[in-house]
Amino acid sequence: MAEDQYSDYTVPGLARENGHEIAGLLQVRLHALNDLQLALKHVHWNVTGPHFIAVHEMLDPQVDVVRGFVDETAERIATLGGSPSGRTGELVARRHWEDYPLGKADSMAHLAELDRVYTGVIEDHRDVLAKAGQVDPITEDMLIGQVKELELFQWFIRSHLERAGS
Ligand SMILES: [Fe+2]
Repeated sequence: MAEDQYSDYTVPGLARENGHEIAGLLQVRLHALNDLQLALKHVHWNVTGPHFIAVHEMLDPQVDVVRGFVDETAERIATLGGSPSGRTGELVARRHWEDYPLGKADSMAHLAELDRVYTGVIEDHRDVLAKAGQVDPITEDMLIGQVKELELFQWFIRSHLERAGS
């Protein structure tokens, strides 16, 4: 985020540079969540095979929750004095992960990819929540709440991939 994109304030009780640093870290989490909700919809549209309806219908509630996290994270950035970006060009320029690789494909192939996607998002969320926890427990609390749901959704994905007895 460019320096002139920050407000003169951050939240009370936080040094301004700390609040703005947390806002900067949250911007990449915002890009990751925006990418995740699109990947989930993309799979919802492109999944095929005998598990089509189970996977198709499982994903929309995840999209709804992740879109809620997008809004929550963007508004936390603004609350901290930053300027949240929802621009897709910036998302692509700043992401350090690969674009979702599959088009129309069998449900098991998509679920294996989504498992990988969730692992990346959750690991990076945990990194940022640990950093936020050193200066801003409110942002830490928000990210803990998000990780709890993201980990639950990854379990839904993984349960489809697990074989009985394995
Ligand atoms: Fe739909």
